[in-house]
Amino acid sequence: MKAKPKIALFQCQWCLYSESDQYWVDHKLPPSIHLTKTSCTGRINPLYILNAIQGGVDGVMISGCLPEKCHFKEGNLNALRQHDAFVNLLDYIGFERDRIRFVWLDLQDRGRIQQELSAFEAFLADLPPSKPLATRVSASIGGVND
Ligand code: FES
Repeated sequence: MKAKPKIALFQCQWCLYSESDQYWVDHKLPPSIHLTKTSCTGRINPLYILNAIQGGVDGVMISGCLPEKCHFKEGNLNALRQHDAFVNLLDYIGFERDRIRFVWLDLQDRGRIQQELSAFEAFLADLPPSKPLATRVSASIGGVND
């Protein structure tokens, strides 16, 4: 039997309006999902994502408030712009862009986080295992190792 894909979930602490959804995320996440809560998606340093990938996750989900409902005005839009550029880099070095997913949640989206995680898990399970990142060159670079 194939192991469940490992997912890093970065969750804005304001995006889940339902107490039961937040309780589920805080206490009932499957062990294959690692939660990191942030005050806003705009506060997620791309290096946190890189760290999760280097730690062996198969996918990264970022859940935040709807663009017009971010508590920090455009924090989530800034995050989207910043991470879009970062996702391009990750894709280039071997972590395919489909392995990173943004989810915007609103008041009426009760129960949606479970569905999103489940769908993402199923999607990742169908992919081949993620490759190690190509962050090192195998040949010596002129002058460095000479
Ligand atoms: Fe939730 Fe900014 S406060 S994404």
